[in-house]
Amino acid sequence: MTRRQPDRNLALDLARVTEAAALASARWLGLGNKEDGDEAAVDAMRISFQAMDINGRVVIGEGEKDKAPMLYNGEPVGSGVGPRMDIAVDPVEGTRLLAHGRPNAISVVAMTPEGSMYSPGPAFYMNKLVVPPEAEGMVDINEPVEKILQKVAQAKNKEVKDLVVFVLDKERHKVLIADIRAAGARIQLHTDGDVAGALMAVIPGTGIDIMMGTGGTPEGVLAAVAVRVLGGEMQAKLDPQSDMEKKRVLEAGRDINKVLKMNDLVDSDDVFFAATGITDGTFLKGVDFTGKGAKTFSLVMRGLTGTVRNVESRHRFDKLMRVSSIKYD
Ligand code: FBP
Repeated sequence: MTRRQPDRNLALDLARVTEAAALASARWLGLGNKEDGDEAAVDAMRISFQAMDINGRVVIGEGEKDKAPMLYNGEPVGSGVGPRMDIAVDPVEGTRLLAHGRPNAISVVAMTPEGSMYSPGPAFYMNKLVVPPEAEGMVDINEPVEKILQKVAQAKNKEVKDLVVFVLDKERHKVLIADIRAAGARIQLHTDGDVAGALMAVIPGTGIDIMMGTGGTPEGVLAAVAVRVLGGEMQAKLDPQSDMEKKRVLEAGRDINKVLKMNDLVDSDDVFFAATGITDGTFLKGVDFTGKGAKTFSLVMRGLTGTVRNVESRHRFDKLMRVSSIKYD
C-alpha cells in the first residue's frame, strides 16, 4: 500500500494568526474598553493572514462589509495561492472578558474546505448543546434537560449531581438554569465566552461536563470545528432573540426547528482550528508579557490527522517588528 505523505498542516500557520491577535489585544486587558482591544486583534489577524498560502474567504467574520472594514463576511484572505478555504474568525472571543480582565478571552480561527462551513446568514443566535465524547450519539437537543443530563451522567459513569454544566449568565437562560438545578446538576455561570465553554465540555479535566444554552451563531460554528476534531458532539438550533431577527431568518428560508448536527455545521474532516489565550483561562493561559517580549499559549488542531497540539511560543518584539508591520510593544 502506498502511503500519502502528510501534507502541510495549515493549523500551525493559523496559530501564528491567533497569536498575533492575542498579542495585539492583550494590551487592553482590564482597560474597560471593548472596541480598541478588538480592533487591535482584527488588524493583527488580517496582516498575519496575508502571509498564508491559501485562497480563503471569510464566511464568519466581523460582520457585513459596511459595518466591518476588515475581516468582513466575504472578504478574501490569504495570498490567493493555495487551497480554497472557508474561514471563521473571532479575533477576540469575549470582548467584555478582555475589557474587564476576566478569564477565558481567546482569539480563535477555524478553516475548512470551501463550501463546508455553515453560513449563519441573518441568524445571530443559536441554542447549543455540547456533550463529551462518551455521550456522542446519545443525546437530542429537543429532549428535556433532565433526560439529557441523565444520559450524559450515565455515559460518564457519574451521577447527575456530579455534573457541572457551562451556561452563559443571561436573562434568557432563567428557565434553563432552573431546569438544570431541578434535575440536580451543578452549574458554572459565565458572563461570556461560549466557544471556551464548548471546548471545556469536550476537553477532559476542565471541570465542565456539558455546555447548554443560547449564544452567538458564529461562535457556534467555530466551536463545532473544534468539537469535530476533539470528539464529542454538538447540536444546535437557530434561536432568534428578537422579532426582527426572527423575521430575517425566516425570510432567508431558514428553519428554526431544524436540529443542526455536526455535519450541518461543518461538512468535512479536513478542518483546522487554532485558539490563543488572551486572558488566563481554564484550558489556555493568557498572554504573558515578559518585558521585551511575551509568551503565548495556543491550542492547534487538524481534523484529518486528529492531532491536537498545545503550543507555547516565545516572542521577541524587537525582532518581530523588523519583519512585521504589526505594532507589538
Ligand atoms: P463577543 O466577544 O463578540 O463580545 O462575544 C462574547 C459572547 O459571550 C459569545 O461567547 C457568545 O456566544 C455571545 O457573546 C453571546 O451573546 P450575548 O452577549 O449577546 O448574549
